[in-house]
Amino acid sequence: MSGVERVRVICPLNDGDERTLADDVLDGLTRPFKELSPKHFYDEVGGELFDQICDLPEYYPTRAERSIFETRAEEIVAASQMAELVELGSGTAAKTMILIDQAAATGTLKRYVPFDVTEAMVRRCCEICGDRFEDAEIIGVVGDFERHLDYIPAPIDGEPRLVALLGGTIGNFVPGSRRQLLRSIASLLRPGIDHLLLGTDLVKDVATIEAAYNDSAGVTAAFNRNVLNVINRDLDADFDVEAFEHVAFYDRGREWIEMRLRASRAMHVKINAIPLEVDFASGEELRTEVSAKFTPQRLADDLCAAGLTLEKTWTDSEGQFALSLSSPTL
Ligand code: SAH
Ligand code: TRP
Repeated sequence: MSGVERVRVICPLNDGDERTLADDVLDGLTRPFKELSPKHFYDEVGGELFDQICDLPEYYPTRAERSIFETRAEEIVAASQMAELVELGSGTAAKTMILIDQAAATGTLKRYVPFDVTEAMVRRCCEICGDRFEDAEIIGVVGDFERHLDYIPAPIDGEPRLVALLGGTIGNFVPGSRRQLLRSIASLLRPGIDHLLLGTDLVKDVATIEAAYNDSAGVTAAFNRNVLNVINRDLDADFDVEAFEHVAFYDRGREWIEMRLRASRAMHVKINAIPLEVDFASGEELRTEVSAKFTPQRLADDLCAAGLTLEKTWTDSEGQFALSLSSPTL
């Protein structure tokens, strides 16, 4: 590769962008029903807690999605003909490795682009993949996939690109922003050659879903509360983190899990870096995340609204999770 490093990291999350956390917190905590944006969960501690969630007996989505990769990797590589994989919200890329191994074994892999907001995760992922896939270009992007998709390098001429968004991350967006995100992802795809691989958790019995977000070991609770540690550290705030209780329940009407933090007593919180002072009433709840569960119809409708056509869907043997392949509508 002349002139450029085979393994490299692009970092659009520059200094000016550090305002995002402050802006999101100011916007979210002054609403009539307080809420926070989920992308701030994943600092290094949050990333480690999320890895622990993935190993919990109650958290079925990761195992279900991994089992689809284990049984269908060959089909996915064949159907997409992927030479380049762009993965949004790549994290540790544990499951993706099964797919990349398959593409590398087929001899078609030319480039992998892991994209995540957490710099340490992107760098670690690039190091591992750089060693493992010696014939491929590895280009990490540290950015926000709602704002920085433009930093992804142009696709390789004539070589099929697969963009992946896994782990049910698309479900963390409410319907309007979900379709907006899908539309901007669709703009990374060339009609007739490129595909989207989307992981979605499926609607199922409520007890199974609720258990996945209320584990008995309390890891999910620690993960949920960690967002307050992030605000304390990065925005010089004084949240009494332990005074917030983890709440997760399934909203049957909307078919999503809603995660909240409930103030166990009245509190006055100072967020010095904004600056902002907020009051919590005893029992007041702050919404931290939704995690939508999909029916096949909702999946097809969301994709269609974003200008994408569903080509194939694979599920695990218990029908808990779906991986779908779609392409720009011609
Ligand atoms: N794909 C992995 C990780 C899922 S967790 C899996 O399936 O297990 C969600 C990941 O998306 C985290 O690594 C988080 O840092 C990243 N993420 C969340 N919001 C993001 C955003 N707006 N832009 C970029 N990455 C984001
Ligand atoms: N994308 C994951 C999901 O929706 C994220 C997640 C798992 C999560 N457990 C959580 C987010 C607990 C907040 C709190 O399943």
